[in-house]
Amino acid sequence: MERTTLISPAEIEKQLDFCRSVARLTARWEEKPLAFVDTYGCQQNEADSERLRGFLDKMGFGFTQNEEEARIIVINTCAIREHAEQRVFGNVGALVHVKRRHPDTLICLCGCMAQRPQVAKKIRESYRHVDLVFGPQALWKFPEMVHSLLTRRGRTFSVEDEPGSIAEGIPVVRQDKIRAWVSIMYGCNNFCTYCIVPYVRGRERSRKPGDILAEVRRLVEEGYKDITLLGQNVNSYGRDLEEPMDFADLLEQVNAIPGDFLIRFMTSHPKDATQKLFETMARCEKVAPVLHLPFQAGNDRILKVMNRRHTRADYLEKIKALKALIPDIVLTSDVIVGFPGETAEEFEDTLRVLEEVRFDALFTFIYSPRPGTPAAEMDDPMPREEKLANFNRLTALQDRISEEKHAAYVGKTVRCLLDGLSDDERYDLTARTPGNRLVRVVGDPSALGQFQNVKITGANKWSLFGELV
Ligand code: SAH
Ligand code: SF4
Ligand code: F3S
Repeated sequence: MERTTLISPAEIEKQLDFCRSVARLTARWEEKPLAFVDTYGCQQNEADSERLRGFLDKMGFGFTQNEEEARIIVINTCAIREHAEQRVFGNVGALVHVKRRHPDTLICLCGCMAQRPQVAKKIRESYRHVDLVFGPQALWKFPEMVHSLLTRRGRTFSVEDEPGSIAEGIPVVRQDKIRAWVSIMYGCNNFCTYCIVPYVRGRERSRKPGDILAEVRRLVEEGYKDITLLGQNVNSYGRDLEEPMDFADLLEQVNAIPGDFLIRFMTSHPKDATQKLFETMARCEKVAPVLHLPFQAGNDRILKVMNRRHTRADYLEKIKALKALIPDIVLTSDVIVGFPGETAEEFEDTLRVLEEVRFDALFTFIYSPRPGTPAAEMDDPMPREEKLANFNRLTALQDRISEEKHAAYVGKTVRCLLDGLSDDERYDLTARTPGNRLVRVVGDPSALGQFQNVKITGANKWSLFGELV
């Protein structure tokens, strides 16, 4: 296995020097330097945006949600489905007016779309108001790129196809005070045939356990109560480390950090989810009783063409083993409807998995061809209306199951983390069960950030309702 490229502390120090140089420039501006960071896609991107904000903060920027006020606009994009890309193109296109009104505003596009050569080309040719384009592999050089834009002008593109590296010591400005993301690894080696992620995020590489543990320890000291370990496939954590260790070992070590907090993780790949992992989850009291385990499709032929490297039976056996160890485990999954060549009969197999496993929630997607992936070249004869009809059947079935599973909570008292203020005026707070189900709660907002017993008084297919005990 190839060893991961580490960006040296001296390189990061150099980037922080660029931050200080930019801060000296922005201090001379007449208006207060403000930044607008817009994030699309998954938690990995949220975590990256927290690092972009960390750098921007060191460059002297405050933050705004209003693009008219911003002197730098950063759009952190997602390439997972065509729809996600179209939204970004729409929003970036509209920024041409902002640029006309404020020619000095820097417009930056980064994230997974930026790493796609077709996208970079389109931005270069048709979105000339965009000043800076850089992919996830170049994020650690953001200060240098901003510095060069402010001092030399001209557009900058940093979108080389690189296998990826790890940079420690980048500052972060987190959005939340209670829940935090901690990336434990980057990239993906799996090349599921429909998926763009391995092309834009590079190869799998794991952060050193010491760096991860130190970050979690710091977060717990700062009062964070709910920590999610992030990676595209956390189950293959550690394979590239000099002293290999596996994800279950890492969980055990995070669990040993003193403090009252919950540990979650995502995403797990069924092919690498082991009995050892399930046993570790069952034993470690801080590890939340919840597993997000995408199965994508219930039919073995489709799974094979997807290059998932697990069968329907493998999947169901793993779920059975997990339920035997943790009977109240909350299970969630991802499903793709309408993969090229999926027949009506093959789709029925997906519905059967839902009936059998009874997931608490499901993230469902209609297949979207991604140029450059093998599936985009496959024959796809099923008309869109038929895919839509299948999609609707899938969500209707899941809605029924979610509603039944939520109804079973009513009357119970559950220790929940009070994690936010409710936007629904009949409730004061939002809370999460250990299994991450949303609860709207009547109670005193001063309890925010605490674990408290909540009596569940009602439920629907989306959430639970309750009151503080
Ligand atoms: N690494 C994670 C998921 C990453 S993407 C995993 O392996 O499970 C999140 C979800 O988006 C995937 O699980 C899949 O269900 C969906 N997805 C990925 N590519 C897609 C595509 N081309 N069309 C539709 N859905 C897709
Ligand atoms: Fe995409 Fe598959 Fe990797 Fe998940 S495991 S990111 S679906 S290639
Ligand atoms: Fe999207 Fe990139 Fe995440 S493609 S789903 S933001 S890894």
